[in-house]
Amino acid sequence: LASAEFDLAPIEPGQRITVLWRGRPVFIVRRTAGQIAGDQTVDMSALLDPEPATARSLKPEWLVVVGVCTHLGCIPLGQKTGDPRGDYGGWFCPCHGSVYDALGRVRRGPAPKNLVVPPYSFLTPERIRIG
Ligand code: FES
Repeated sequence: LASAEFDLAPIEPGQRITVLWRGRPVFIVRRTAGQIAGDQTVDMSALLDPEPATARSLKPEWLVVVGVCTHLGCIPLGQKTGDPRGDYGGWFCPCHGSVYDALGRVRRGPAPKNLVVPPYSFLTPERIRIG
C-alpha cells in the first residue's frame, strides 16, 4: 500500500511501537513531557546531521521515523538507559554500532544521516496516515 493509517490512541506516553509501511518498519513514539523538554538542551553543533526537534516531528508528542539504519539498512534496536554507547534514549544499530537519539538523529556513526521521517499527516489528533 502506498499509504497506511494508524491509530495512536492505544500508545502510552513513553511507549514505542513498530508498524509496517511499504514493507519497512516505522517507529512511532509517544514522547513524554521530559523527552520534549530535553529537546531544548541539545547542542546542534554536536549533531552529525543537525536538525532541530521542530524538523523531526509535526507535533512534539509524536515521533514517526522509518526504522531503517541510514548506513546499510539494518533495523536499529531500542537503546536502554545507561547504555555504554551513550544515553541518548533512542536506538542503536546492531550491525555496525550507529547510535540514534530520541528523535532518531544520528549521534554516532558510521550512519551518515538521521532516521528518515516519512511523509505523514494527522487525520485526527490520534490517527495518522503515513504516505
Ligand atoms: Fe546500521 Fe551499519 S547498517 S550501522
